[in-house]
Amino acid sequence: MREFPKDILIEVMEGVIEDLHGHVHRVSDLAVNLGSGLGLGEDDLERLALAGVLHDVGKIHLDAGILGKPGPLNEVERDLMQRHPELGFAMTRHRLDPKISEAILYHHERYDGKGYPFGLEGEGIPLLSRIVLVADAYDAMTSARAYQPALPVDFAVHEITRNAGTQFDPAVVDVFVELAAIDKLPLSLSA
Ligand SMILES: [Fe+2]
Repeated sequence: MREFPKDILIEVMEGVIEDLHGHVHRVSDLAVNLGSGLGLGEDDLERLALAGVLHDVGKIHLDAGILGKPGPLNEVERDLMQRHPELGFAMTRHRLDPKISEAILYHHERYDGKGYPFGLEGEGIPLLSRIVLVADAYDAMTSARAYQPALPVDFAVHEITRNAGTQFDPAVVDVFVELAAIDKLPLSLSA
């Protein structure tokens, strides 16, 4: 059941947002592995698989010039970019399980409350979002983007570990580090 919608959605996402390449697929797989390590049940793992694919679906509404800009965004562009979780939520809330839409809405909230769009904190952020955040951050660092070359896996693992308790949920980072130790992190072709 998981494979059919996921593959169709990946095709749509990758067609619309050129910068994504295999990003959503790797985020989805890593999110499921993290959720599994945290002991989540099959229903939540199914939700994570889809939330991993769809977390950035709201970017479909953003200008290609912002998405592919090879440098830092200015204030106006950043404000627009930071609307993508709410846009994604609006697109999915009446079509998907509410926990999937919520995972999309809160996937840029930080554990220390300094994220967006609402500045939720700690366990006030839904667990599925805290998991997607770690998977997304890892893959964003280890993939080549318009604004940065791919960074080494070791660097990404170090950065995520360093930000446990500030940006990331320490419990999710613990599982992430376990996956890294047994070479179970997905690898972008550009890494
Ligand atoms: Fe995002």
